[in-house]
Amino acid sequence: MEVCEGPFGASANASGSAHLEQAVKDLGTLEGPALVFGGPYSNLQATQALLARADQLGISPSRIICTGDVVAYCADPEATVSLIRRSEMAVVMGNCEESLGFGTDDCGCGFSEGSACDLLSVQWFAYARNHLSAAAKQWMRDLPRALSFRMADRRFRVVHGSVASINRFVFASTPLSEKEAEFELGDADAIIGGHCGLPFTQVIGDRLWHNAGVIGMPANDGTPRVWFALLTPEGSDVRIETHSLQYDYGTAAEAMAAAGLPAAYAKTLGDGLWPNLDILPETETAATGRPLSETTIVWHGNETGRSTMPRPAPEPVSESAYLRATK
Ligand SMILES: [Fe+2]
Repeated sequence: MEVCEGPFGASANASGSAHLEQAVKDLGTLEGPALVFGGPYSNLQATQALLARADQLGISPSRIICTGDVVAYCADPEATVSLIRRSEMAVVMGNCEESLGFGTDDCGCGFSEGSACDLLSVQWFAYARNHLSAAAKQWMRDLPRALSFRMADRRFRVVHGSVASINRFVFASTPLSEKEAEFELGDADAIIGGHCGLPFTQVIGDRLWHNAGVIGMPANDGTPRVWFALLTPEGSDVRIETHSLQYDYGTAAEAMAAAGLPAAYAKTLGDGLWPNLDILPETETAATGRPLSETTIVWHGNETGRSTMPRPAPEPVSESAYLRATK
């Protein structure tokens, strides 16, 4: 694996610090399935479950990618970092790693000052800062700000928020024109992002935007499930599957209570509903409490204007079935 300085321009976190260049770690060509996930959020039980699933699927650490925010809301920041580090998977820096690693005063999530998100983040951020070793913070500082790899002869770029900004929220409902600008900035056929906490997949012209979702908190869909994705090369195509993951959320919530962390987020682990919707656009807010479906799409590359995302459905339906139904 090679580390180089990437072509991106400046990015700035919520505390205003600027980074004139982003380090990009190149993972080379991935010939087999890759497992992608985001937001472990100090949730040790979810991280253990994710690694167990990867093992069941026979996916080696060289093909596991984390989109950042290893540490956030839950009770086990140091143990979660240790587990991720020992696995030797590829990790892109999230705003939480940037803030904790460089010792800034807040999580850098970009929450509005005084908002519910802002007030709650103060509590978990102080807890995480006080429960992380110097070695863990050094590891955070050394993380790449982007990853690149090739699959099925497509160029993938992995970032936390967006190419332009580590803490930008990009949702399914974010205008396609804004995503197209990010493709140009990243010089990529596909962008894999994290940060927003919700899984979605969109084919935009001949390009792809994908968010695998997070494992540290549910997806505000009224279930305790968390999310990851599998990307599999199939000749010149790439199959993208979003999968739910069940884990021992009761133990994770008990650990949060024992640590004195905000009860609102501990409750979310069980009921699957975010304590506030400050960051959500109107479309995603309207989907609150509607169970997401696992999805499968095949990215053929030259499709035009086809957009797909996990959709709330009363009964499970595959994305490929949805595509067939809408042709
Ligand atoms: Fe984030």
